Amino acid sequence: TQTYRIATIPGDGIGPEVVAQATKVLDAVLASEGASAAYTEYDLGARRYHATGETLPDKVLEELRGVDAILLGAVGDPSVPSGVLERGLLLRLRFELDHYVNLRPSKLFEGSTTPLAGNPSIDFVVVREGTEGPYVGNGGAIRVGTPHEVANEVSVNTAYGVERVVRDAFRRAQARERKHLTLVHKNNVLVHAGHLWSRTVAAVAPEFPDVTTDYLHVDAATIFMVTRPERFDVIVTDNLFGDILTDLAAAVTGGIGLAASGNVNPDRTAPSMFEPVHGSAPDIAGKGIADPTAAILSVALLLEHLGHADAARRIEAAVAADVAERGSTQRSTDEVGAAILGRLA
Ligand code: NAD
Ligand code: IPM
Ligand code: MN
Repeated sequence: TQTYRIATIPGDGIGPEVVAQATKVLDAVLASEGASAAYTEYDLGARRYHATGETLPDKVLEELRGVDAILLGAVGDPSVPSGVLERGLLLRLRFELDHYVNLRPSKLFEGSTTPLAGNPSIDFVVVREGTEGPYVGNGGAIRVGTPHEVANEVSVNTAYGVERVVRDAFRRAQARERKHLTLVHKNNVLVHAGHLWSRTVAAVAPEFPDVTTDYLHVDAATIFMVTRPERFDVIVTDNLFGDILTDLAAAVTGGIGLAASGNVNPDRTAPSMFEPVHGSAPDIAGKGIADPTAAILSVALLLEHLGHADAARRIEAAVAADVAERGSTQRSTDEVGAAILGRLA
């Protein structure tokens, strides 16, 4: 039987609470596939930072390169200056492991309480570039704290980086029923990067003659995501636009508690990493009320990546059934996890 080496990074806030439910689901589903998971838990995040000053030691990074997949909860804590853990741990992992496809699917589950409830055809996926854009940290500030401060954040977009994520998005669009790809950018203002993205889509399109394409400025994309979300199939966009759009997508398709993501290295030169779209939610951490569904759906993405597509579909079906019966009753993290697990039995 196959044993997968899975690294978990529960992280901060509600991260450990939701990861505990997600690993139970992973164990149950793998068992029914005649496989299993061997976990190594990594104590990274605020506690480690306060204790040792480390965010992601090189030795840990090297160990992580050897696993089959990584499951992460969330990082970021009010006791640590904003950006230290986010950049030093989460973004460093995405960059070092070359997670250039940040995959963020949105599907409206029947029964979910959202402003868009009743629209049955909301089913799209955002392919968010994961290694470039304004996230690279190419910037700096001078005269900090003075009235003459200048603070720059430079968005880096390479032909290599844009082309590989655009090609991946075309492939994903081609594999879907509607075969439609929407590029979202802001090429009316960000003319250098924007035109590189537009030219790249135009250049790659002939390789995928059955995929239709269109373009939206990011501001207009936020309108349509609320007023006509069914128009989207696959969206490809840069790192920052994708970050913002996918929180919006989560909010309008069932809530942030349902939104899963995969930081995928499609070339498999390093392990991919799966995590909820949401953060550490310090406002509800420790109360046992965080919704673990996003982490559980992230396990479905992980299984799909490892070649267990049927198992992934079974998790999605169990979640769909749970969401359909949820209503507005407040349940604990454990109760939601147990309910989904129960449906998988
Ligand atoms: P957040 O996603 O943590 O929280 C936003 C709101 O959504 C909060 O009201 C929170 O209670 C709610 N929420 C989030 N997840 C939930 C869940 N599973 N169940 C129920 N409610 C949930 O975003 P934020 O407040 O902007 O960020 C908090 C911290 O998390 C910051 O340090 C931020 O940098 C970090 N963060 C980390 C990640 C990550 O690790 N991938 C993602 C986003 C934010
Ligand atoms: C996310 C988060 C991260 C991002 C932060 C915490 C670095 O918001 O995963 O969406 O901006 O990518
Ligand atoms: Mn985000």
